[in-house]
Parts: sequence; C-alpha cells; structure tokens
Amino acid sequence: MKIAVIGGTGKMGLAVANQLSRQHEVIIGSRDPARAREAAKGVKGATGSDYEGAARAADVVIVSVPYEAMAPLGALAAAVRGKLVISVVNPLKMEGGILEFRLERGSAAEELAKMLPGSRVATAFNNVPRAFFEREISAPFDILVAADSKQTYEEVANIVRGIKNLRPLYAGPLSQAGVVERITPLVLNLASLNGTGVLTTGFVSRKS
Ligand SMILES: NC(=O)c1ccc[n+]([C@@H]2O[C@H](COP(=O)([O-])OP(=O)(O)OC[C@H]3O[C@@H](n4cnc5c(N)ncnc54)[C@H](OP(=O)(O)O)[C@@H]3O)[C@@H](O)[C@H]2O)c1
Repeated sequence: MKIAVIGGTGKMGLAVANQLSRQHEVIIGSRDPARAREAAKGVKGATGSDYEGAARAADVVIVSVPYEAMAPLGALAAAVRGKLVISVVNPLKMEGGILEFRLERGSAAEELAKMLPGSRVATAFNNVPRAFFEREISAPFDILVAADSKQTYEEVANIVRGIKNLRPLYAGPLSQAGVVERITPLVLNLASLNGTGVLTTGFVSRKS
C-alpha cells in the first residue's frame, strides 16, 4: 500500500514513516519538497514530495502536523477524495506545567473531516508516544481508532495489525475522536507528574 505521511519530517511523522516503511511504500510529505526528499533518504524505500504530491500519490494519507497547522490542509481535499485519512493530531497546549486539551468541544479529527469532504477520516496512533516506534518497544499498546464505519475502522486496523505489538480497538464513530484525543494529555501529565515515563503509564499500554 502507498501511504503518505503529511508532516513526515516531524518527530512523530518520521517515526511512523519508518515503522510503516517495513510493509508499505511511504511518501514523506513536507511543505518544503526538498526537506521531504532529505527526510525520505533515511526511510526505507521512501520518496518525498510536497503535501499535495504526497497525498495524490498515496492510497492512504496520515496527517501528523501540529493542530495549529491544520488549516492549510483544506487545500488537499481533491487529492484525498475517496481516500482513507488517518489523523494522529492532538490539540494540546501547555499551561502552568500541565498539558491541557485546547478545544472546548469536538476534536481535531472532526475538524479535519470537515476540511476534507469526500475522504474517510479516522483517528489512530494519537495516544502512542513516538518512542514506541523509535525504540522497538516490546510492551504491547492498544491503538484506539474512531471512524464513522466499521469498514473504515477495518482499513485502519489492518495497518495497525501490521505493526508488531500494536492492537487496534474500535472506539466508535468519529464523534468519539475527542475522547480518544483527550486521553493523550492525561497520559502525558500522569507520566510527568508521577515520574513513570510515557511508555508505562496509561490506559492504552498493556502488560505482555
Ligand atoms: N510526538 C509524539 O510522540 C506524538 C505522538 C502522538 C501524536 N502526536 C501528534 O502528531 C502531530 C505532530 O507532532 P510532532 O511531535 O511530530 O511535531 P513536530 O515534530 O513539530 O512535526 C510536525 C511537522 O508538521 C509540519 N508542519 C506543517 N505546518 C507546520 C507549522 N505551521 N508549524 C510547525 N510544523 C508544521 C512540519 O513539517 P514540514 O515543515 O516539513 O511540512 C513538521 O515537521 C501533533 O499533532 C501531535 O499531537 C505526536
């Protein structure tokens, strides 16, 4: 499968791209195509392109940009029409040493779905730290997937099942994406306030 990672030059995007390159053809998407090509050199078999080129060339598009950077992605609507779009975006802000969820209602994934009509937007990987991919962690993780149909969920689940130690779980329709995204600041705050580390604290990591 051809999978584009929009924001694939970033910390999470690159970690996910590296992982997925074991089984898929990865296209790194960057606002700067030269930066995308440079990042792609370090990812097995990957190529690099601007966001639109990456989205057009792919079967599946992963969005891994900061929440504040989502607005321009509406320009990708035609390129992703009919495609599965997976959002890993968590709208977070730091206030007084505590990570807060920055939306009063809704979710980044639902906002993305409005920007990209005609695509099938789902959440996945929101609650897994990039260290899971970077350090070959052996502790199993649950990947919560919100998607409007079981069929879309299954498409995401098949990608998740292809990664060792990850188990997909259906979290319900996209209206539940906000619940999934809100778990991330809780897990990160628990880890930092209790000194337990992001890979062992939380409701989505399991003992093997
Ligand atoms: N880090 C984690 O462990 C983790 C885990 C789960 C989910 N997430 C989510 O994944 C998303 C990306 O996080 P990250 O840690 O990978 O962030 P990051 O290192 O800052 O990378 C984000 C990428 O987004 C692109 N981007 C586009 N517009 C941007 C803008 N206005 N400002 C900054 N970057 C912009 C940049 O790529 P180009 O400039 O090349 O286009 C950048 O490389 C976030 O929504 C985060 O909540 C992160």
